[in-house]
This record gives sequence, structure tokens and C-alpha cells, in this order.
Amino acid sequence: EKAQIGVTGLAVMGRNLARNFARHGHTVAVHNRSYGRTKELVEEFGHEGTFLPAESAEEFVASLERPRRVVIMVKAGKPTDAVIDEFAPLLEPGDMIIDAGNAHFADTRRREAALKERGLHFVGTGVSGGEEGALHGPSIMPGGSPESYAALGPLLEDIAAKVDGEPCCVHVGPDGAGHFVKMVHNGIEYADMQLIAEAYDLLRRAGGHSPAEIAEVFRGWNAGRLGSYLIEITAEVLSQTDAETGKPFVDVVVDQAEQKGTGRWTVQAALDLGVPVSGIAEAVFARALSGDPAVRQAAAGLPGPSATAGAGGADLQADVEQALFASKIVAYAQGFQQIQAASTEYGWDIDPGDMAKIWRDGCIIRAKFLDYIRKAYDKQPGLASLLVDDYFLDAVAGAQDAWRRVVATAAQQGIPAPGFASALAYYDGLRAERLPAALIQGQRDFFGAHTYHRVDKPGAFHTLWAGDRNEVPA
Ligand code: 6PG
Repeated sequence: EKAQIGVTGLAVMGRNLARNFARHGHTVAVHNRSYGRTKELVEEFGHEGTFLPAESAEEFVASLERPRRVVIMVKAGKPTDAVIDEFAPLLEPGDMIIDAGNAHFADTRRREAALKERGLHFVGTGVSGGEEGALHGPSIMPGGSPESYAALGPLLEDIAAKVDGEPCCVHVGPDGAGHFVKMVHNGIEYADMQLIAEAYDLLRRAGGHSPAEIAEVFRGWNAGRLGSYLIEITAEVLSQTDAETGKPFVDVVVDQAEQKGTGRWTVQAALDLGVPVSGIAEAVFARALSGDPAVRQAAAGLPGPSATAGAGGADLQADVEQALFASKIVAYAQGFQQIQAASTEYGWDIDPGDMAKIWRDGCIIRAKFLDYIRKAYDKQPGLASLLVDDYFLDAVAGAQDAWRRVVATAAQQGIPAPGFASALAYYDGLRAERLPAALIQGQRDFFGAHTYHRVDKPGAFHTLWAGDRNEVPA
């Protein structure tokens, strides 16, 4: 007996995809770099269908019917190339390699072109839905040639989620189209999660509600037009209590959101295409801001709004001048931070104070202002952020009430002020003692077992969300 499809890479996603194929009556060849995982899969789940365990790549390939369909489920990047290099020489024209990981679409295009020359089909496919989805029905976004879809599509449609009997799987388009669409899906996922986190933060800090109360609010919303998987799991995460401390779970999670790259890629691709994906970009940057403890710590003492911030009778012109000045400071702080990060990354040893010095005259952004930046770096070469330098700190402290009024006015009057508004959000993000990034970590752990860190002890942890909801070390 030969297998209709094979899966190599049997970590949780690969294992669950293999089981899903088997549960749908397909014979599945299974292979893993170390045979232990393969054996484990067959021992634990062999009763669910027909698996053909293979110890070697050769055995694996020999057990597949033609055209061979080889699903690889390994880490994106080098591991994917390594597996392709291992299998491609064993395959024959017309066979296909299906990359079901979160690859960058440019890598997928490159791999497709290279394998086409050997007569092989390469199908980069998005698979969404986390571990549970892979087992019970994911959404599947295959790219690659129409011929490959003709031979592969029916199997994928079999194991995909169904809505009113219709499979959540379609041939997206040729070469990298599938992985491109999966990337944007993840970008949207980031934006969705960030918006939910902001909603929670507002209800908590402005509304004064507890996580348990907010969980109920989300449960209510989930029954209405906001009904969605992410809102549903948010309610679950917010109602979870930490067994060890008795505190709300979201309060023991370190508020630094992690990311594996797909959101960032979406923004990079959007910049290349000239498409304004500002919501996705804000979400990616909010994660990056949360994940920079050094700058956040340095900025922790920055002043917040004064008690009279909302008071009326303001002079719009004077307010706008203040908003302009404060937002300008933020823009320079961000730019200089980017220069410092690149300098560290590439070992350039750039002196940021020197940059300020040579920009004081001659160039387009020349201004008196740059002298203060130079002075700030002269005083403190390792400045974490311009915002914490005395001069800029005082300037923003003095400007911020007006700045907040301007952003509120812009919002109320329907005047787009993305520069002012996002600069203010950045300022408030940096100085926040706690960020709702902790909730994002909880969501990521819920749907993808991506783990989180605790505020009270080192190590990475995972909560068994689909099980007894106990916490285990990762
Ligand atoms: C999915 C998810 C999945 C993964 C994310 C997590 O569609 O099932 O998007 O692909 O969990 O890539 O991304 P981060 O680790 O970057 O948050």
C-alpha cells in the first residue's frame, strides 16, 4: 500500500496535519529528522487511521504514490531549505513539495523557481488555525501552479475547515501567492489583537473594571457583531486566575509582546508596494515598543497628563504649536533610536551626537533644535531615548496638555492627524507602567502555545488552555 500524502517534520503542527489527513481516510507517510517522534505519533494515534512510518527520507519517498505529495512542516528559513535540499534529489518530475510553514513569500518564489527547473512543483501554502486548527480543520492558502493544485487541492479541501459545507481552502494563485496571503492574514491578526488589547486597556484603566469584569464584557461582545475567535479567547484569557498567586492571569504575564516576523514582513511588503497599512504597522510597533524594556525603564518617570488637562478655553494656535513641538521631539527620538539600533546591529559605532551636529545647518531638517539633541548626547552618549533628556522631558511635559487637546480636537472634528496622534500614543506607551501586551502574550499562548514569561520568576511558561488550564514550564 502506498500513501496519498506524506508529512515530514512532526512537531505539533506537522503531527496534527498528519493526523487530520489520516482521520479523513488518507494513508499518510510520516517522517521526522529523529525517528522517535515518528514512532510516538504512530504509537499514540495509529488507531486514528493509516500511517506509514519511515525512518529515512528514501523510505519515506518510496512509500508515496505518484505524483508524490510531500508536506514539509519545519521552521521557516534555513531549516526549510535544508529539508528541500534533502528531498528534491529523491523526487521525480511531477512530484510536489508543499511548504506549510510560515515562509516569507520571497523565499517561496525563489524555491518555486529553483524546483521548477528540476520539473518539481513547489507549493507554498499558508495554514492558519494553530494546533487545534491543524487537527480539526485549518484555513488553507495554497499557492503554486494550477497543475499542482489539481493533484493536491482535493486532499487539502478534505482536511480544511468547512463553512456551510464549503472548504476553507482555495488555490490562491501561482508561486508565492499563498504565503503572501498568509502573511497579510497574520498582519491583520496583529492589528486585531492590538485593537482588542487597547480596548481592554481602556476598560481597565479609564473604566476601572477588573479583568474578570472585562472578560464578561468581551463575552457579551462575542455574541454580537464583534463575534470572533480572538474576542472569544480574549474572554477566556481575561477570566483565567493564576493558580500560584490568585491574581488575574493577565497580571502575572510579562507585558512584552513577542513576534516571529510575519507582521513585520507585512509592513515591509506594504512599504515596498506603497500601501498604507497603518493599523498593522501600529500593531507591529506597539509590540516592538513593549518588547524594549531598557527604553521603557528609562522612560518610566516621564510625566503624564495634569489633572486639568481637559480644561477648555484653550488657544488653538498656541496648542497646535505645542503639539507640533512635542510630536517633533518624538519623531526625532524615534529616528535617533533607529540610528543607534542600526549602529549596534552592524557595528558602525555611529555617534548620534555627531549626526545632530552635522544636521544643524546645510541639510533640509536643519534647525536650532538639533543643537539640543547634540547637547543631550554630549551629556549622555548612551541616552536610551531623547525623551528622557532633561531639556526634551521638560519640553514635552510643558506641551502635553495642549498636545492631548489637539489630538482630541482632531478626532472630534474628523481631521486626520496621524502624526500627532501616533506620536502621543508612542509617548504614553513608553511611559506606561504596564502595557496590554501581556494580554497579547496570553492570546498567543492560547492559540499557538507560543508561551509567556512571568513577572515573578524566570523561565517560559505555557497554560494548557485546551486542557485543565494548569500552567506548565515550556
Ligand atoms: C495562525 C497563526 C500562526 C502563528 C502566528 C504567531 O494563523 O495560525 O498566525 O501562524 O501562531 O504566526 O505569530 P507571532 O509569533 O508573530 O505572534
